[in-house]
Amino acid sequence: MIKKYNFGTVFPTEAVVLDLDLCSDPMPYFSKKGEHLDLTYILERETIVYGLGESNRGINKRGYLYESFCSDTSTHTPDIFSMYGAHNFLLIHGRDTFGVFIDCPEKVCFDIGYSDYETLRITSDAVDYTIYVIDGTNLKSIVKSFRTLIGESYIPPKWALGYQQSRWGYSKESDFYEIADQYEKLDIPIESIYMDIDYMEAYKDFTVNHTNFPNFKNMVSNLRSRGIRLVPIIDAGVKIEKGYSVYEEGVKKGYFCESESGKPFVAAVWPGRVHFPDFINPDARAWFGEKYRILTDCGIDGFWNDMNEPAIFYSEEGLEETFAYLDSIRDTNIGIKESFGMREAIDNLSNNPKDYERFYHKFNGDRIVHRKLHNLYGYMMTRAASEGLSTIQQEKRFLLFSRASYIGMHRYGGIWTGDNSSWWEHLLLNIKMMPSLNMCGFLYSGADLGGFGCDTTYDLMIRWLQFGLFTPLMRNHSAISTREQELYQFPSTIYFSKLLKYRYRLLPYLYSEFVKAAKRQEMLFLPIAFEYESDSLTKSIEDQLLVGECLMTAPVYTQNAGGRYVYLPESMLMVKYNSQFERTCKILEKGHHYIELGLEEFVFFIRKNKFLFLAPEANNTDSLDCSQFEIIGYSNQTDFLSYEYYDDDGLSTKIDLSNLIKISLKKQTSGWALTDSTVPIKITKIEIFEASF
Ligand code: GLC
Repeated sequence: MIKKYNFGTVFPTEAVVLDLDLCSDPMPYFSKKGEHLDLTYILERETIVYGLGESNRGINKRGYLYESFCSDTSTHTPDIFSMYGAHNFLLIHGRDTFGVFIDCPEKVCFDIGYSDYETLRITSDAVDYTIYVIDGTNLKSIVKSFRTLIGESYIPPKWALGYQQSRWGYSKESDFYEIADQYEKLDIPIESIYMDIDYMEAYKDFTVNHTNFPNFKNMVSNLRSRGIRLVPIIDAGVKIEKGYSVYEEGVKKGYFCESESGKPFVAAVWPGRVHFPDFINPDARAWFGEKYRILTDCGIDGFWNDMNEPAIFYSEEGLEETFAYLDSIRDTNIGIKESFGMREAIDNLSNNPKDYERFYHKFNGDRIVHRKLHNLYGYMMTRAASEGLSTIQQEKRFLLFSRASYIGMHRYGGIWTGDNSSWWEHLLLNIKMMPSLNMCGFLYSGADLGGFGCDTTYDLMIRWLQFGLFTPLMRNHSAISTREQELYQFPSTIYFSKLLKYRYRLLPYLYSEFVKAAKRQEMLFLPIAFEYESDSLTKSIEDQLLVGECLMTAPVYTQNAGGRYVYLPESMLMVKYNSQFERTCKILEKGHHYIELGLEEFVFFIRKNKFLFLAPEANNTDSLDCSQFEIIGYSNQTDFLSYEYYDDDGLSTKIDLSNLIKISLKKQTSGWALTDSTVPIKITKIEIFEASF
């Protein structure tokens, strides 16, 4: 049951897809004050507050402040309030259990028991917004209703679940061939290589530097013939440069955001001074979306949209103010106040809230200041790309993900979680963020594995990949001038080869679960408390996650840990791999367990009366056989196990769950076997562990 309340004159964010009637009853649960968004809900001591998608801290958001304001927060320490995405969905679980979605494209603040531990307060300067209150019988059903409200999640091509290599700094053809050669030589799987800003000519969108890439189209097809795809970045800002067609067309057609004076607004990002396309304007979106054709014509079929909060290094106005301040103190005895003042003036040049007041969007004849629509910008850029790509080739799925996002964008693309650091804390943050993202519809997601900023370490890379084995986006990405972290950069690579081959063994399961979750409005990563709601011990467990219907992951995320504690809410089959990739399986009873896990060892669990199917090893999806499996499972007092398997060509946009393949196993006197020999898959081995207690 969903109740909808409108306040003020709402902007059509298109975050939701259901057309609901407005509710005339008073809003349940919250008390509301004044015209501006200001909602209060009294929390009990034990109330848990889930949600907020891409945000800092834990799965339970209780006890801190969060701001929904898409921000280029490249160093996200625990004290920051905003991140790249703005996902205003909360799921409250206590005396009452309900969801709330604040559809408001301006900044929204969530004080979740920070100022007063017993009070949840949601505030904003906004006067125009919609509130949806969602009831349901349990946590999973509320999420499902919310996800139905906001529409089906983006489904990437199957190849997007392969292992992807990226780094800021690859700048010429030989860099890409070198990566491909090294991976091939060491027999480490690889599916794609990312092209960061250095492939462009002077950081101009939809250009390729012809000096460094003299045979771009050939390079794309050469690498493709080796099973590797290239995925270029597209930034939001368009360089101001005479003769550059994207700039000139944009100016001529009036497709850029305007400053107060009506001239295109000038800000700076990588290329120096740029204009921002007005993605709120549908015509500008269609124009920009069509530009992706320049690269798809060269054989490209995946993109990542970046800097679309939009990130601003400086504006003309900001520069003026900063230089004026520096001039004003130049001839003084620069003391403590001025020293701090100088630093602050420089810091405030970038992503300054004042700049978001300085430009305007055009929509249906109205001129709207950017601040009021800020959180829609990255969403609408990705929508432009998605709609453009579907015009280019309607029946084909493209890989597409973004840095900034808002709920609604999940229908058009995925997100990566931005510039993390090579810190163990960010591995844990990645683990905790996955279910929150899934609640908000972002299923295709993942972090920069190994960490983007700072220097990674061998052990962090291993532990992060062990978790990344399960995330749909499995991409190793790092910043220029940090330690190189392509997997061949480490002295020992044999383990990486084995680990990534294992990703491909898991891929048919992950893909099947991903597509089912998208189509059925479910989560791929689930906090265990969502599945075992009556077990109060699960409520505070945030470092073990269910992955789809059959598995639970329990990654190691601390340096030098020789293992970890795991809580099992029911008996499960422990599946542990050692450094040689030898497998040990053991049924463990409900309760607490300590699992020893040396650096090159990892564990996951198969749930009671479920099984996992593993494909043969592969080095990319081109060579992956999704119709031949080895089965490992856990039966507890049943002689029948079953799974509904989804598979397709991985590319076509026609996705139909009515063609699920039912894999059913029955225990017979001779052992476990498929019940139906007409099932179009081959089972090479079945290993079912049976509980004896
Ligand atoms: C931003 C992106 C990062 C990229 C860099 C250079 O910081 O978040 O992924 O490598 O820009 O394009």
